[in-house]
Amino acid sequence: MKDSRSNRKVLVLPGDGIGPEIMREVMRIVEFFDRRHIASFEVKEGLVGGSAYDASGVPLTDATMAEAMAADAVLFGSVGGPKWESLPFEVQPERGLLRLRKEMDLFANLRPAVVFEALADASALKRDLVSGLDLMIVRELTGGIYFGEPRGIETLPDGTRRGINTEVYSEAEIERVVRAGFDLAIKRQCRLTEVDKANVMESGILWREVARRVHADYPRVELSFMYADNCAMQLVRNPKQFDVIVTSNLFGDILSDCAAMLTGSLGMLPSASLGAADKSGRRKALYEPVHGSAPDIAGKDAANPLACILSFSMMLRYSFDLKEEAGLVEQAVQNALKGGVRTTDILQPGTARVSTTVMGDTVLRELDKLA
Ligand code: IPM
Ligand code: MG
Repeated sequence: MKDSRSNRKVLVLPGDGIGPEIMREVMRIVEFFDRRHIASFEVKEGLVGGSAYDASGVPLTDATMAEAMAADAVLFGSVGGPKWESLPFEVQPERGLLRLRKEMDLFANLRPAVVFEALADASALKRDLVSGLDLMIVRELTGGIYFGEPRGIETLPDGTRRGINTEVYSEAEIERVVRAGFDLAIKRQCRLTEVDKANVMESGILWREVARRVHADYPRVELSFMYADNCAMQLVRNPKQFDVIVTSNLFGDILSDCAAMLTGSLGMLPSASLGAADKSGRRKALYEPVHGSAPDIAGKDAANPLACILSFSMMLRYSFDLKEEAGLVEQAVQNALKGGVRTTDILQPGTARVSTTVMGDTVLRELDKLA
């Protein structure tokens, strides 16, 4: 493989907690790709979350926001930690991530839950329930109750307070994410499940109507509907019944953690957040592991870098159309696991516990054999 382009602009935001440690392992792969002329990237680094707050008093500066808007892709680590938990709501680390999602208009959040054969026994479910599992959750990411107005905590005339958040979706917001779900389903097993609470919420009724309407453009895809509570249950009962799930911001947040656990470890799961394609077909995009900042193990060289490495491979695939290169990274991860090395979160009897760095070393060694 010979690379002909070099102007791929990537903004790297390692963030807090284990973010910097896992991102370091990704950067070693970036260097390897560059050294071997497989693909090169113009990498800039910035601060987000608590580390940005410590440096500048906000979880994301306007300058970093502008860098993100100008980049072809953003690679994000994780944000948050006990150090910043008592800060005012507006400057908490998570606001940095939510601002990126909102201002980049990253409405489609792709969260694959794939079981690596070598890890099928690490799942809390029996091997035959999860072996071969490959499902994709498409979570709406810029609307719904995360951003809906009115919101806040208000004081009532009697002096007691009430908290308010609003689930609100326009037809256009539903349609674009449902289309993203159909577009993925058609390239996979052609099955799409729309998940909502249409038995309780009017917004859910609208989701169903829009999904039915869009379905007319995708006659080959089998569309089904499920209530969110039932979906949580079905994910644990028989996860292989699903191909692509499309759902709102909040339900997607909850169901994707549940799906993540099916795979044996939250430390394995990458995600892509995509905006709409512009005239040249370019989409704004942010890639991040599904897991959080894990402050309890931060700085101990114990975190699993694989979700972040796999997020990098999603970036290769979705932002730069480097499918072969993405495949290389995924194969290297598979081979590293087959070789029996495990970080603590995926440790099983008969495997060797390794550090973040050694897991990175192993993936690099496997890449070197494949490239
Ligand atoms: C996620 C996280 C975030 C969310 C937090 C960190 C704001 O849980 O990406 O799933 O709720 O979206
Ligand atoms: Mg979450």
